[in-house]
Amino acid sequence: MKAYSHKHPKASPLINAIPGVADKARSMNLPYWIIAHDNNPFGIVIVGQEPQQLTAPPGTPVALVTLEPSQASSGKLPDFISTATELVTEKNLANALVTISFKHRRAVRQFLQAGFEPFDDYYLMYRQLSQRWAPTTELRFESVKQRDTHEWFKTATRFLAGTGDTALNHNLQYMLDLPDTFLTRYHASEILYFVAKGDTTIGILDIHGTRGWIGNMAVDPLSRRQGYGKQILTFALNQLKIRGFGKAGLRVHVNNKPACQLYDSFGFKKTARLKRLLWWNHRYIAS
Ligand SMILES: CC(C)(COP(=O)(O)OP(=O)(O)OC[C@H]1O[C@@H](n2cnc3c(N)ncnc32)[C@H](O)[C@@H]1OP(=O)(O)O)[C@@H](O)C(=O)NCCC(=O)NCCS
Repeated sequence: MKAYSHKHPKASPLINAIPGVADKARSMNLPYWIIAHDNNPFGIVIVGQEPQQLTAPPGTPVALVTLEPSQASSGKLPDFISTATELVTEKNLANALVTISFKHRRAVRQFLQAGFEPFDDYYLMYRQLSQRWAPTTELRFESVKQRDTHEWFKTATRFLAGTGDTALNHNLQYMLDLPDTFLTRYHASEILYFVAKGDTTIGILDIHGTRGWIGNMAVDPLSRRQGYGKQILTFALNQLKIRGFGKAGLRVHVNNKPACQLYDSFGFKKTARLKRLLWWNHRYIAS
């Protein structure tokens, strides 16, 4: 098993043989290494810096490992894993995060045996947007100006804390230190809302303007179970419908019972269950 930099002449034909993985690498516009056995590509290691996945403080160099799904049951998977972690050690990156389908149980086991730790376990859920809903008059949805993005993150951090979503709880510790460049990029790619009732902010919402996706929604812990979650979700679905999307998607942690119930009750269907596993490079030296 060998790792080739994306600049190596062999990298191009190898990456073109795994188009799904290739699209991911190209869309992130970051350096990557492709790991292959002879001419058989297994996956890639993308190298970047936090904030990418919010696994560590902003500025920390980290890796994103993507396994070609058709290789998940290969007998050579342990070689792929050790080549990936050796690369992460050699490049002095703090950690490596991999996402694998829950159904590839053997592959999940092999990553765990190699020292990866469970980090996240979530459903992808979708529902068709065939109808519009009557808008709520009880709540006000105030779209967030760029200069208020940090304030929005502060409120989101408060409202999103304490769920059964272990990855989110880990992410939250870094959400208040996000650099301005990230906040500007985030504001440009998402549509953020404060949700108010009278003079009080009782919730937050973000949806993606360019894909039919609900990023985050939350209600102030003091205002839960009063029907606001339903109203926020209704508003989000209407916004996506107005923007021309035929379906809406989201991710939810498998242990986040209130949110899972809410999405189930709105007809969202689970299309996949994914696990994210995190490997820490104990030899990492911060510069
Ligand atoms: C999920 C969340 C937004 C729901 O907000 P809410 O205002 O309490 O929700 P509502 O009062 O509108 O309830 C809507 C439905 O959600 C479900 N639900 C809400 N809280 C629940 C709980 N504690 N246990 C089980 N189901 C619950 C129920 O299906 C409920 O319908 P019902 O009242 O007819 O039984 C809220 O719990 C929250 O902010 N959680 C933390 C952030 C979060 O997890 N966001 C989702 C990330 S994917």
